[in-house]
Amino acid sequence: MERRPEILVTRSLPEEPVEELARHADIDIWDNNEPIPRDELLERARDKDGLLVLLSDRIDREVIDLSPDLKVIGNYAVGFDNIDISYATEKGIPVINTPGVLTDATADLAFALILASARRIAEGDRLVRSGRFTSWGPKLLLGKDVDGSTLGVVGAGKIGRAVLERGRGFRMKLLYNSRKRKKDIEDELGAEYTDLETLLARSDYVSLNCPLTGETHHLIGPDELSIMKDDAILINTARGPVVDEKALYEALIRGEIGGAGMDVFENEPEVYPPLMELENVTMVPHIGSATHTARRKMGFLVVNGMLDILKGRKPGNIVNPEVLDRGKGDA
Ligand code: DGY
Repeated sequence: MERRPEILVTRSLPEEPVEELARHADIDIWDNNEPIPRDELLERARDKDGLLVLLSDRIDREVIDLSPDLKVIGNYAVGFDNIDISYATEKGIPVINTPGVLTDATADLAFALILASARRIAEGDRLVRSGRFTSWGPKLLLGKDVDGSTLGVVGAGKIGRAVLERGRGFRMKLLYNSRKRKKDIEDELGAEYTDLETLLARSDYVSLNCPLTGETHHLIGPDELSIMKDDAILINTARGPVVDEKALYEALIRGEIGGAGMDVFENEPEVYPPLMELENVTMVPHIGSATHTARRKMGFLVVNGMLDILKGRKPGNIVNPEVLDRGKGDA
């Protein structure tokens, strides 16, 4: 009888995709809502055929080398900066992620942070709950207009594009910056391509939607923040380390920018403590893709991609397709 593949799943995930995986493989699941501790990961990742991991798990050489016959790594996220992709590629191990299915959920969250920051929603909520809402007031919690303002999106992949689409609905002037110019975005949405400096200087809202790479680490630091308008709002739903958090704090207290909306943090889940004190920072706990639909679809996408690899098929959602193209990753 053919041996069933052994897969480690490092967190409690939506049930149906895990049940689907269990139909085809023996799974060892860290059935917990908290991340698997590193020593537990090192213990359980040994001699597996597949790993289904989360963005909070660091999948480096040490983990990859625990299984001489590792055939696939599935990441329950679209971003994969938690995985040493070049080492996995060197070892011929395909890495699967979850593009597409969380685009709208994440773009909605970016827009929620734009609106919340502009209209001071979190501050208002705190005020009402504290019992300090005593009367309607002509000067109470005045915010910024969104309609007709300028939105600059950094990173024009699927999510960046979806943020621009939402901006168009608010009649915003649209700017974008990315590694490559995207003619379709310009033609279909009327967005203007600019260099990063111009985008930062002209935007009322800057939304970060780029992946975290060596090039984008601290893409937004003191110099970039100083270019921004003094009432501009920075939104980060990408990855925390794209922003130098200490520099962000300093820019906020010096009034170099007007506010920030953050879904992700440089040393997640820790937050640079002084940021916690600022009223003009709206923070949510990395919930960009946190809708029932998106999380379920992410589960099926990663599971089906992993099963494709285990059955010798090529899935669409493979981060390093070259491992298959050179014929090493097929199971
Ligand atoms: C991702 O997929 O990369 C998000 O950050 C979590 O859904």
